[in-house]
Amino acid sequence: MSLTNRDLVTIDDLSNEEMEALFCLADEMADSTDAQYGLCRGKIMATLFFEPSTRTRLSFEAAMLRLGGSVISTVDVGATSLAKGESIADMAKVVGSYADIIVIRHPWEGAAKVVADYAGIPVINAGDGGHEHPTQTLCDLYTIRKERQTLKGLRIALWGDLKHGRTIHSLIYALARLGASILFCPGSGLELPEHVMRRLNTEYRGELKKCGHLNHGPDRKLFPIDAMYITPTSHHQLAMLPDISLNVELQAGVDALYVTRLQKERQAPTTDPQERKKYPVVDKELLKGKEFEKTLVMHPLPRVDELAYEIDSDPRSKYFKQAAHGIPVRMALTAMLLGARVVSISSKYPSFAHKVEYPIYRRHSGVRCSNLNCVSNQETETKYIKPEFTIVSDEPLTLRCIYCQHELYPEYVASSDWHQGTLEHKKYHSARSRWTKKIRPENLIVFASEDEARAWQSGNGACTKE
Ligand code: NCD
Repeated sequence: MSLTNRDLVTIDDLSNEEMEALFCLADEMADSTDAQYGLCRGKIMATLFFEPSTRTRLSFEAAMLRLGGSVISTVDVGATSLAKGESIADMAKVVGSYADIIVIRHPWEGAAKVVADYAGIPVINAGDGGHEHPTQTLCDLYTIRKERQTLKGLRIALWGDLKHGRTIHSLIYALARLGASILFCPGSGLELPEHVMRRLNTEYRGELKKCGHLNHGPDRKLFPIDAMYITPTSHHQLAMLPDISLNVELQAGVDALYVTRLQKERQAPTTDPQERKKYPVVDKELLKGKEFEKTLVMHPLPRVDELAYEIDSDPRSKYFKQAAHGIPVRMALTAMLLGARVVSISSKYPSFAHKVEYPIYRRHSGVRCSNLNCVSNQETETKYIKPEFTIVSDEPLTLRCIYCQHELYPEYVASSDWHQGTLEHKKYHSARSRWTKKIRPENLIVFASEDEARAWQSGNGACTKE
């Protein structure tokens, strides 16, 4: 199996078998780090970090140096031509001609995909806004796998800022694919984004249930579970008995508690000084709970106040080990993408049909991604990026941005193949009308507003196909 010349933009770019092969190689590299020197001799890694980073950038650079390669780096937008108004695509093309592999961190969601589309060399997403951070997920899975041998059937609790945490978003999809159950414990107002919930609900075969309304007794204040995803390998009938299922899950214990900090750089500054104090904290008191007896306490780091220092010496705390695993995991990934190592597939993790194919919508009308932080909405990038979506549902009509995965529910639609091609039949419709289902995806036109739909109907609107 070869990952040569592939990109890692989202965790779904790797199949379960490929992840397992990567972990096996990481094991080998961890056991013989010195012997790997020279594997990537003559190769150059460009690390482009336009957001703060300690672990991710340094572990990628250390990984490349341990493989005998070299590193060129930039860590400040202000020091690059992006500050002069250069587009990400132009930067990608240029850096792609200087280096053999790019690692990019950028505050805009979808920026890593744009770099991958234009660089012509392998690109690794080291975090794009609040979207995804797939290599952190590889480190997280590798840590759990080392401690528990398998992910299948485990119960993993995700804690803190589930709304903005990109590590959480990548991790959720991987856990679902690998057959783990997930307990969601968000801070107040920091629940999973709707589009992530929806994907979990529709594309994985488990059961997802909101359970915030259930009465779980006083101890639930310490461990505030708001939703759970039960893997299909579990025998619980969540839909019928959510309360009982939750208690059964908890009695069996939580295998890992994955804590995250409040991503304050991704939300509007709060005027309420109490807000930060309300953020849930993992400390000795919480870990006294019976369900945490054998729990691995994890955190992608950096921590702020959400994880008490008093538990650092507790044998259940694994977060510094998790950070250390960044070296072998990123060595293995770099060597595989550069074609320096080709490994065989293990059948231990069977493939999970997670890549659902949807029709594409790329007609150039006024409709844009609803996420203002999406790369497709940035002034420097709109000159060449045309909004593009997958049509994930026709009831209600739902388009998913291919850059950031945010969803859009257009209100007005039409067909480019209107009845008999006569102007009196050229009509737009409400997206909720029965006509929407009848329009074939390749003929679908969606409008950003009723004015735009009217203009199209009267023959003045421009809705061209790419
Ligand atoms: C994470 C990130 O950047 O998203 N850090 C990391 O890469 N280990 C988590 C965070 O910043 O909270």
